[in-house]
Amino acid sequence: MATTTVAEKSPAPTAGSPAEAGVRSATFRVWRGDATGGAFRDYTIDVAPGMVVLDAIHQIQAEQANDLAVRWNCKAGKCGSCSAEINGKPRLMCMTRLNDLPLEKPVTVEPMHTFPRIKDLVTDVSWNFRVKKGITKFTPRPPDAPDGTWRMQQSDVDRVQEFRKCIECFLCQDVCHVLREHEKEDEFIGPRFLVYVAALEMHPLDVADRVPELQKSHGIGYCNITKCCTTVCPEGITITDNAIIPLKERVVDEFYDPIGKLVKIFSRKRRS
Ligand code: SF4
Ligand code: SF4
Ligand code: FES
Repeated sequence: MATTTVAEKSPAPTAGSPAEAGVRSATFRVWRGDATGGAFRDYTIDVAPGMVVLDAIHQIQAEQANDLAVRWNCKAGKCGSCSAEINGKPRLMCMTRLNDLPLEKPVTVEPMHTFPRIKDLVTDVSWNFRVKKGITKFTPRPPDAPDGTWRMQQSDVDRVQEFRKCIECFLCQDVCHVLREHEKEDEFIGPRFLVYVAALEMHPLDVADRVPELQKSHGIGYCNITKCCTTVCPEGITITDNAIIPLKERVVDEFYDPIGKLVKIFSRKRRS
């Protein structure tokens, strides 16, 4: 495999030259292939200040590899489409600035490892949408007012607002070892959907009880709080501390704390 190394220091730029405009070259080692296999291929392009990895991929696509497949939509870190592994780390391509990467060596760009490969940087993330369908939906209590509306205090919704920031990039799913290495897709819903369950369970209007499914079909017990998911979340959601651990506590209360269970039987569903 050809590798082009970029010189760290260039000769003094002449007026009006690309170097004076901050342009330099860099090599991107991009995985090319499909579900049957593939390999990394090197592309060297000119890069300019302000570029992100997605810009570089688009430039490669425009100038050297018209058939390079990449999924993206917003280029603003909001659609969650451009997830990939950059220098081995799950990241959004559109939010990874080149000046934060060591460009003196090739930048590797590859598809997420946890999901089946379709072509080049595009993976099949449809499993996630099937998982979501299996989670008990939002179930509000009857309206508080005759006009069919509800009343909520801001303090009651503060907790779940963090979870609503999720852009479904699935980077947390990609990095979670339960899915990535142990391939427990049939038994574990993964951090993204534990966040989703937390958003429903802690919603001040919701009255459904998802604790039994968390323990039985959602596999929350597989999570051993490594916090890798929290580390890669581009929205900064504190997945483990704010979503998973409180859900685990509810499972313990329900299934392993007989006194707590008795209290629960004789009281309303706790939504603290
Ligand atoms: S904390 Fe749990 S859900 Fe998050 S990466 Fe680790 S095992 Fe997976
Ligand atoms: S929780 Fe964070 S990392 Fe996981 S899918 Fe949502 S935004 Fe992406
Ligand atoms: S293109 Fe939308 S998050 Fe990157």
